[in-house]
Amino acid sequence: MRFPNHFRWGAATAAYQIEGAVNEDGRGESIWDRFCVTPGNVHNNESGAVADDHYHRYREDVQLMQELGLNAYRFSIAWPRILPAGRGQVNIAGLDFYDRLVDALLAANIEPFVTLYHWDLPQVLQDEFGGWASRDTATAFAEYADVVSRRLGDRVDNWITLNEPQVCVYCGHEEGIHAPGLRDSRLAWQASHSLLLAHGMAVPVLRANGGTHTNVGITLNLAPVHPATTIDEDQFVANMVDGGLNRWYLDSIFRGSYPNDILNLLEYKGLAPRVMSGDAEIIAVPVDFLGINNYSRILVRQKAKETLGTWEFVKVEEAEHTMMDWEVYPTGLYELLVRVHKEYQIPCLYVTENGAAFSDTVSEDGRVHDERRINFLREYLLQAHRAIAEGVPLAGYFVWSLLDNFEWAKGYQMRFGVVYVDYTTQRRIIKDSGYWYRETIAAKG
Ligand code: FCB
Repeated sequence: MRFPNHFRWGAATAAYQIEGAVNEDGRGESIWDRFCVTPGNVHNNESGAVADDHYHRYREDVQLMQELGLNAYRFSIAWPRILPAGRGQVNIAGLDFYDRLVDALLAANIEPFVTLYHWDLPQVLQDEFGGWASRDTATAFAEYADVVSRRLGDRVDNWITLNEPQVCVYCGHEEGIHAPGLRDSRLAWQASHSLLLAHGMAVPVLRANGGTHTNVGITLNLAPVHPATTIDEDQFVANMVDGGLNRWYLDSIFRGSYPNDILNLLEYKGLAPRVMSGDAEIIAVPVDFLGINNYSRILVRQKAKETLGTWEFVKVEEAEHTMMDWEVYPTGLYELLVRVHKEYQIPCLYVTENGAAFSDTVSEDGRVHDERRINFLREYLLQAHRAIAEGVPLAGYFVWSLLDNFEWAKGYQMRFGVVYVDYTTQRRIIKDSGYWYRETIAAKG
């Protein structure tokens, strides 16, 4: 099975998960630095303080990408490295780092895909404005996008405004398991609105600072939501969860309005975000592509004997699960790509993340035999190919992740890389899946 000639074969990472060097060259504090300090927030009380030490080892890491044959690399920029106070004073040393990284990538013929926000908000914005609860943070984000794209816009053609606003909203503001660790549903929905506004405000800025080749998009984590049974109650909650996770974001960005059913439900519960006139237009500014992160599907049912609308996750015990306890469900990627294409007619799609965590170890032969990851990637790529064959404009695939890294609240136990990292020595070892990916890329399929 061959993929199109210009298909992007990439890998993805995020600043806080790999860089380390949190106190170097003028970087400010982020909400993740703060969150990790509170005991109990992160597995083993770990943090991204050192991570993969990529800040110092980026040249070696670009070489690894070359060895794998990648033609694209998705990474994120740490806002607190650029604007330690969130806005205002620019930290030139921070910009310099990404400048060098971009040049190293281009010299290696690897196309940079730059994410501006992958969850590491400057802590001062949380303290001053309440972070994403406030639209002032959206304004600050547009300023940050301006500063970064003025410096890199001559060489970076692909910009992703936000990574997975849904996770920021749900895990960060509703469940409290991610930074900033809040548990407040009303605030969470307000945060979703500010994040979407931030996206919409940054798009024209990124375009203005780029050339004619500039492409701007956003990355959403999308998943098919299935009802556990065919009974009406389960179908009702499946549609509702789909509305909160998928349609809330897709409809507002690509159709110019929040989905009515979800908005009504939120109004009824007193949770609807405050919206100003003109906001819907800002959010729906046309983009060039949509990035989709997909790992699994979501199976739900109505909670027994409770009022309509309360729901719970259902686990299919006999299915294969990764170490994250996510069901391996490759056809879900196909289903999603076809649906998004049919319902939203977006000009270009990327899979900006897909991958799996397993408990990898280094064998006596010095290699990492991660057969299960190879199977995972093969099955998902087959489904991506199937979607392309049916006319879905999928232009690239980015495996999560290039390197094992700091998996947020789950810490370092979750290894997602196609390259293994020994955290005591920082030695990198290409896993069997990395070699498999290299062959797949070389054969274009
Ligand atoms: C996604 C995140 C990414 C990584 C993967 C496993 O939700 O965008 O940073 O943690 O999950």
